[in-house]
Amino acid sequence: MPASRRTGVDLRSGAGLDAVLRTAQAVVHCADDPSGGDEVTVYGTRRLADAAAANGLHLVHVSIVGIDDNPMRLYRRKLRAEQAIAAAGGPATVLRATQFHSLAAFFARALTFGPMTFSFGDMPFQPVDTEHVATRLADLALGASPAAYARATDLAGPDVLTIGELATLVRAHRGASAPRLVHLPAVGPVLKAVARGDNLPSATTAETGGRTFAAWLAEQPRQLRGR
Ligand SMILES: NC(=O)c1ccc[n+]([C@@H]2O[C@H](COP(=O)([O-])OP(=O)(O)OC[C@H]3O[C@@H](n4cnc5c(N)ncnc54)[C@H](OP(=O)(O)O)[C@@H]3O)[C@@H](O)[C@H]2O)c1
Repeated sequence: MPASRRTGVDLRSGAGLDAVLRTAQAVVHCADDPSGGDEVTVYGTRRLADAAAANGLHLVHVSIVGIDDNPMRLYRRKLRAEQAIAAAGGPATVLRATQFHSLAAFFARALTFGPMTFSFGDMPFQPVDTEHVATRLADLALGASPAAYARATDLAGPDVLTIGELATLVRAHRGASAPRLVHLPAVGPVLKAVARGDNLPSATTAETGGRTFAAWLAEQPRQLRGR
C-alpha cells in the first residue's frame, strides 16, 4: 500500500511507520525531501531501514546513478542514505537510476532563456522513464530477498542526449524553433561534474530500457510543469 505523509506516514518522526510495516511483505522506498537536508534523505532512510530490518522485510530503495564521486550535495546525501541502509543490516536492494525524463525536461527548461539555451560542456543525460523504474523496483520487491545489502544493476533510459538536444526537443514540443546553444565554462567541481557527464551510467554494465525521452515527451501536455 502507498505510504507517505499524505497517508499519515512521516519518515522525519517515524509516525505511522510501524503500523504500515506490519501489513507489508516488502518495502519500496522512494521517499525523499531534498529541501530538508539530511532529515528525510539520510535519517529518515535509516529509520525506515531499521524498521524494515526489525520486521524482516526486504527494503528496495531507488538511488541515483553516478553518486560515488559526485560533489553535488544531494548526491553526497544519497550516498549516505545507501550507507545507512547497509548499516541497518537487513535484506535490502538499492537500484540506482538516471535522471527521470521529467527532470531532464526541467533542466532543459531551466537553462533556456528566450531563444537561448546555456550549456556547461555538453551536459549529457541518459534519462529514464519512471514507469520503467517503477516496474524494476516492483520486480525487485516481488523477487527473492537478498541475505543482506545488495546493489541491483544500474538502470538508464535508451538514449544519451545533451542539454542542447533536450532543449531542442522540449521547445519543438511547444512549437518553438531550436534554441541557440551558448556554451559557458564550467566553474567549480559541481558544474565540472555536470559538464563531464558524471551522471551517466557505465556504458558496459548499466541496463537500459523504457520509453525514449522523445516518446515520453510526445505524451506530455504542451505546457510542461514541475520536475
Ligand atoms: N527525479 C529523478 O530524476 C530521480 C532520479 C533517480 C533517482 N531518484 C530518486 O527517486 C525517488 C523519487 O524521486 P522523485 O523525484 O519522484 O521525488 P518526489 O517527487 O519529490 O517524491 C518524493 C516523495 O517522498 C514523499 N515524502 C517526502 N517527505 C516525506 C516524509 N517526511 N515522510 C514520508 N514521505 C515523504 C512525498 O510524499 P508526501 O508529500 O505525501 O509525503 C513524495 O511522494 C527519490 O529517492 C530520488 O532520489 C529520482
